Amino acid sequence: MTAKHVAIIMDGNGRWAKKRLLPRSAGHRAGLKRMISLSGHAFDVGVERLTLYALSEENLLRPKEEVDGLFDLFREYFPAQHSELKEHGIRLCVIGNRALLPADICERIDEAEAATRDCTRGTLCLALAYSGRGEIERAANLAVRGGRELTREEFSGLLSVPPVDFLIRTGGEMRLSDFLLYESAYAELYFTKKLFPDFTNGDLDRALKEFSLRDRRFGRVRS
Ligand code: FPP
Repeated sequence: MTAKHVAIIMDGNGRWAKKRLLPRSAGHRAGLKRMISLSGHAFDVGVERLTLYALSEENLLRPKEEVDGLFDLFREYFPAQHSELKEHGIRLCVIGNRALLPADICERIDEAEAATRDCTRGTLCLALAYSGRGEIERAANLAVRGGRELTREEFSGLLSVPPVDFLIRTGGEMRLSDFLLYESAYAELYFTKKLFPDFTNGDLDRALKEFSLRDRRFGRVRS
């Protein structure tokens, strides 16, 4: 079975830079380049939706210089990047708390989402200023306002992405760090010590191969 919805916690940029005696910003730049190459590759090998954790709500509490550097990287690569996505038929969507993002970044996101809206080959979803708990809380508040109990299907529909098949975390830590908590209920988990800038397209292929060998039972027994 192939993984249709793959999510990646892109961890290890800082350590990658430190090992090379470079500033953390160099690690993020290397991470962004890797992210772009990996995204192109994932859709070539049959992934339909790729959700990438680029910035958590808590990451915004890092030193201002680092956070501003990440936004500058985003400004540098978008909108040039969105023309490329469109060319390859990839729809871009951004999830997370936009109220925490600078206004010009939100404008770029709106433009990129609008420009790629009709693309159908795949969906690249970037999580920026994202919190899995925050997302569940927002959905719960919406549900309460509706004034009646929702079915699981209806509640899931209030979240920003569908269920995750395969969740990869680079960088050696084994935790979810508030990423897609509800959507990963039955995700297969894959942890690698490779730092994100070192996680090659071949590494993704190997991870996807491992996914294809997993026995997904969703809590049931094989008949
Ligand atoms: C975690 O590594 C990575 C981040 C907080 C940023 C991830 C960003 C990218 C891959 C570049 C894409 C950027 C944008 C804006 C789209 P870390 O810094 O926590 O690494 P460490 O654990 O080694 O310190």
